Order: sequence, then C-alpha cells, then structure tokens
Amino acid sequence: MKLTIVGTGYVGLVSGVCFSELGHEVVCIDKMEDKVAQLRSGKSPIYEPGLEELLQKNIQAGRLTFDTDLSTSAPSSDVIMIAVGTPQAEDGSADMKYVHTVAKEIGQALPSTGQYVVVNKSTVPVGTADQVKEIIHNMNEDVDVAVCSVPEFLREGSAVKDTMNPDRIVIGTSIPWAKARLVQLHEKLATGDKIVITNEKSAEMIKYAANSFLATKISFINEMANISEHVGANIDDVVRGIGSDRRISPHFLNAGLGYGGSCFPKDVKALANMAETHNYEPQMLYAADRINERQRFKPLDQLLKKFNGSIEGKQIAILGLAFKPNTDDMRYAPSIDIIHELVKAGSIVRAHDPIAQNAAKPFLPNNVTLVETMEETYAHADAVILITEWAEYKSIDPTDLLAQMRGNFVIDGRNAFDADAYKNAGIDYYGIGRNS
Ligand code: UDX
Repeated sequence: MKLTIVGTGYVGLVSGVCFSELGHEVVCIDKMEDKVAQLRSGKSPIYEPGLEELLQKNIQAGRLTFDTDLSTSAPSSDVIMIAVGTPQAEDGSADMKYVHTVAKEIGQALPSTGQYVVVNKSTVPVGTADQVKEIIHNMNEDVDVAVCSVPEFLREGSAVKDTMNPDRIVIGTSIPWAKARLVQLHEKLATGDKIVITNEKSAEMIKYAANSFLATKISFINEMANISEHVGANIDDVVRGIGSDRRISPHFLNAGLGYGGSCFPKDVKALANMAETHNYEPQMLYAADRINERQRFKPLDQLLKKFNGSIEGKQIAILGLAFKPNTDDMRYAPSIDIIHELVKAGSIVRAHDPIAQNAAKPFLPNNVTLVETMEETYAHADAVILITEWAEYKSIDPTDLLAQMRGNFVIDGRNAFDADAYKNAGIDYYGIGRNS
C-alpha cells in the first residue's frame, strides 16, 4: 500500500520506518527542512534502538522517502496518517493546532475523486476524528474521506520492537470500506483477536484509558511503597505477593520516582481536562497525577533527613537524567526537578547519563557539572542518587562505589540496586518503600 505519514516525531517516524519495513511504500512528511534533509541521509533525529538501521535499509530499498509537503504524495496514498504533536496547553488540555493545520492541508491536497482514509495516530481528544473530517470538508466538500483513529501504543526505548510486535491493533472506524483497508494494512502485524475494531470515539478513548490506567498503576504502587515505609513493610515483597494474582499481574509495578516522559503526565492531565469540560470530576486521575508530582521529591526529603536539615555544600552525584533508560528524552524527567531543588538548596551537583547528556543541558541549571563517566560522578560524593536505571548503573560494584565516595549515602530512586549487597558493603542504602 501507499502511505503518507505527516509528522516525524516518535510516533510518525517509527510508524513510517516500520510500515516500509513491512513492504509498504511510505512518504514521511515534516515541515522542518533540516530534519527532512537529515532523515533523507539516513540519520535518525532521535535515539531509538534499531531505528536507524531500518531507516537506512528502507531508504536504500526505495520504499521510504521524506518530503516537506504532503500535497504530492497524499492524493495517491491509500492511507494518510496524522502523527503530529499534541502538546499540553496551559489548561492541561491537548493543543490541537498542529493536527488542525495538517487537516486543512489534507483538505486542500485531496481531489474530489477517489476514496481516502485519513488516520489519527496522534493522541487526540475524543471527538477529533469528527473535527478533522469537518476541517477537510470545509476545504473540499466533495472529497470522499473516512477519518479514523488508530492509536499508537509504542514505548520509547523499545519503539521499533513494540510497533513490530503489538499486543493489539485498535482500529476506530464506522465505515466498512475504511475498516477493510486498515485491516489489510495491518495484516502482517495483527489478525483475529489482536485486531480490536471500534467506532472512532471509543478508539480515541482507548488510548487515553490505556495510558491513564498504566499511570495510575504506577502511582498506586508508589503509594503502597510510601505506606510500606511508614508501617515497616517491604514493597518488593508486597509486589511479589500481589503480582502473582493474575488479575493484578507483576508488570508495571516498579515503585520509584514516578512517571515522566511525553505521554503519561500529559495524557492523564488531558483526560482529566476532557472530563471536566463534560462536567465530570475525575477523582482517580487527579490522585494519580498528584501522587506522581510529589514522588519525585522523595530524594530531597531523604537527603535533608540524612544531613540534619541542610545539604548546602554537599556533593551530590546524579546517575541518570533521561526520563527512563534507553532514550535521550528529557521531557518531564524527574531529574530536572530534583536537580533544580538540589542546586537551590546549595548542594554541588555532578550528573551523568550515557545518552541524554546533551539533551539534558537546556533543562538543567548552569552550575551542574555534566561528566563523561559514571565514576567521575560519584568520586568524592557525599551522596548518590540513582534517577534512571540504565543497565550500566546496575553493574556498579557497591564496594568500589563506597571506596570512591566521601560519604556513604545512596538513594536508589528506581529500586534497581541489590539492596542487601549495598548494605553489606557498608552503604547507607535507601530504596523507595524498601524496608529490610
Ligand atoms: C508510554 C506507554 O507505555 C506507551 O504505551 C504509550 O504509547 C506512550 O507512553 P513511554 O512513555 O515511552 O510509553 O514509557 P514507559 O516505559 O511506559 O514508562 C513511562 C514512565 O513510567 C517512565 O518514567 C518509567 O520510569 C515509569 N515507570 C514505568 C515506573 O515508574 N514504574 C513502572 O513500573 C513502569
């Protein structure tokens, strides 16, 4: 099939590369000329395992091209996908200006003959498919277009793998010919029960419900960890005990410093905002968000406790800056708030991240020292905070670590270290909800 995918962010670029890998002919569109030039030369603007190899392979095979304007490829495409950003507006709602602009351009580009499928891939408020259709028809009232919702569930850091091996494909359309075309487009990825067909609005809601459920699961387990600290229980054991219940499952129950990234924080707020505009107060979403906002400040509380109320002049080592491992994405990363607070409190901060160092710079105060190796971070440190659980940090030998440090306090913000090994080495170890 022929596809035009508008927007070369995480969702658009990964979808474009993966659909071309599946044998489709894909044109990816982005307004930014330098980004398009970079992509044409086979360089990925984002760090994502496996993406650049597939990008180069499919450019070479002639199945994947890039353009700044959709008007050439859209009229001959079987499916046009909108995968532009929906950033958070001031009031927490999703800002739809990019989606609306693309809808207008599609309306201008499509001729009055033929049947077109336009798919919303971006996470968009419920009702957007209708809105996009209206905008297209305002530009060209004769065009036969089905505007559908096919939400994307990929995770950063495993985006290619997730896209090529989806748990399910949700196709939201009430138009039979569009459904047939979209089922065919996805047939190498999912068939049978793995294809969930709904109407447009339910598909749009599924994306928000999935992300909000996962975010709530994280806030729930963080709340259990916080309570465990108070009552003397150990969250690792609690998770083992509840996760073996198949109704709960052990997945997505890692207590820590809460969720960051471009999706969960924004989508929970956007769904809450959507509910409010329909006069419904979403109490669960408020709670998930509040718990998450607070969770990232736990290291600060612990440091103040350890150092009798003042961390002025203390040298603090930060391990990990990205919002999670295997990405250089800094959006809503807990490290940003933590480091700003540490600096405000007068401590000397040295930070390391294997990949996100450059991406992190604009988000951090100037007086933070970004170092090349993790060893340089914790040399002479009074305390160490693990914020992102990169694999290389997990292999740190606690005896070596202690020998390099000036102090002995280690805050494991992701419960990624072996608590007993750390304690046995003589480290004052703190994990989230990890009483021994
Ligand atoms: C998420 C969804 O998983 C994905 O389906 C959707 O399409 C986009 O949003 P992503 O933001 O890339 O993906 O990351 P994810 O791996 O889900 O992690 C999100 C955040 O939750 C990270 O900050 C991570 O550290 C945190 N997290 C995750 C926890 O704190 N505990 C967990 O058990 C799992």
